[in-house]
Amino acid sequence: MERRQFLKNAVIAGAAAVCGPRVWGKSSDAHIEILVGEPIGEISPNIYGQFTEHIGGVIYDGVWVGQNSKIPNLYGIRTELVERMKQIHVPVIRWPGGCFADSYDWKDGVGPTSKRPRRTNFWEVDPDAARLHEKGPQVFESNEFGTNEFVRFCRLTGAQPYLAANLRSLSPLEFDHWVEYCNSPAGSTALAEVRAAAGFAEPFQVRYWGVGNESWGCGGNFTPEQYASEFRRFTSWIPRYGVELELIGSGPSDNDIDWTHRFFEQLYSSPAYDNRSFTGWSVHHYSWNVGRGKTNDWNRSKGDALQFDAVDWYEMLREANRMEQIVHDQWAAMGQYDVDHRIKLVVDEYGPWHREGTELDPSHIFGQQITIRDALVTALTLDTFNRNAEKVGMAMCAQLVNNLNALFLAHEDRFLATPNFHVFAMYAAHQGAQAVRVEFSAPEVQYQRDGKQARFWGLNGSASRKGNVLTLTVVNPDLSKAIETEIAIRGASITQATGIVLAAQDMHAHNTFDQPDAVKPSPLAAAVNGDRVNVSTPAASVIKLEVSLG
Ligand code: AHR
Repeated sequence: MERRQFLKNAVIAGAAAVCGPRVWGKSSDAHIEILVGEPIGEISPNIYGQFTEHIGGVIYDGVWVGQNSKIPNLYGIRTELVERMKQIHVPVIRWPGGCFADSYDWKDGVGPTSKRPRRTNFWEVDPDAARLHEKGPQVFESNEFGTNEFVRFCRLTGAQPYLAANLRSLSPLEFDHWVEYCNSPAGSTALAEVRAAAGFAEPFQVRYWGVGNESWGCGGNFTPEQYASEFRRFTSWIPRYGVELELIGSGPSDNDIDWTHRFFEQLYSSPAYDNRSFTGWSVHHYSWNVGRGKTNDWNRSKGDALQFDAVDWYEMLREANRMEQIVHDQWAAMGQYDVDHRIKLVVDEYGPWHREGTELDPSHIFGQQITIRDALVTALTLDTFNRNAEKVGMAMCAQLVNNLNALFLAHEDRFLATPNFHVFAMYAAHQGAQAVRVEFSAPEVQYQRDGKQARFWGLNGSASRKGNVLTLTVVNPDLSKAIETEIAIRGASITQATGIVLAAQDMHAHNTFDQPDAVKPSPLAAAVNGDRVNVSTPAASVIKLEVSLG
């Protein structure tokens, strides 16, 4: 018997011996067993991070409306966005990209706004942007929103800044200077004085720094060996100013193991790299291929955000579910070099990527509508991170507003929260909690994938404990079946349980400016029976249970 399987069986046998045999109610379709005594690790709040790039309608229209706007704003930042972000306790925000980051000169975005240069935005190369030519900051970056404005945005929302440095087209010295601008003490350097002149005498104390973005692609088209050598140059010396910097390397697209192996092989070969600030390895995973295994063509395999069938529904969930394997494989590969696992995974871009056509405004490059299907994708992804709390240090949903897997859609004076916002609200209780082992036993979903039988798991989710409160989140992917679910808590007694559910009758359901609450959570009945809780998990839903432990 494989060692891992043996240990798992031994643990389960031990749990049964301590807590008594599992006798499940006859009327339930599925069982969930929460092993409170089996901690996995603390769920880093930073797993619940967000991403904002200078692309389409994210910064201009989404975040930034300008100080003279009639739209309610705080120092130029959309007030409603700030208020909503505070509700879900956004811990960290990544900026300024994305691909934009490796074309961005941070010096363009500081100093008096009227003197900031207008530049060509990275995304003008995108066919979606071509039609916008000569129009708006989506093509010609005004630099009205720069480092000061971003840090202000973070402070207003209570989030930490995570800056992505330009490795493709700026030098390591300019990287050092950006750190100096942000972190050097009041009055200490010329850059601290530039910062003070803008009204920020005290340092920003930025801790998280990305060293390039997608360096295998838009960030320079490097080989892993070339990137490793650039990474050394950029990280060999960076001024500290008493801030414990955390450097995040540009990791693979999806599960590209070759990129990870070759980078670490090169980095850890002679002369050995020993920079303890290197704490994160980024991974990007977008779910886009609903091509039913027939094609991997980027343009032909993407589906519509609103017009899709049941097979597309399951295919999209299946794509997102690949995250579990990615996390395991990348972690194992990194562990061959970083044997103590000091470097954690940073999944700083994830979410579904649908074909264009549902954006609110032509200027919203990669803008798309967000349905209940996207909410399930987000929920199962967050559950994956929670279950792997010891491996995933940070994650950012791509992106916060008006782009891909948005939590918010905004145009001019109109604003709405998408179903994804509600998922983040439901999952916020996991932040900083101790993830605990949870076993799911539910009949698989079966569906016809173009004439062939296909399967997907029946129920999955994650559980965590903070003090006497246990939080369980669960996804039911089945489009038609509610699942009578019995939940047993091992190792603690239950005093009370409350539930909440995000579901919709129609799989295409989404929020619009006219119907902003078409998809929103509602209470879910949870019956406590001794050490069990019984709930009915609706079809196509995300549920959250909050259980008070005795
Ligand atoms: O999120 C949109 C883009 O997708 C990002 O700029 C890039 O990093 C990724 O390819």
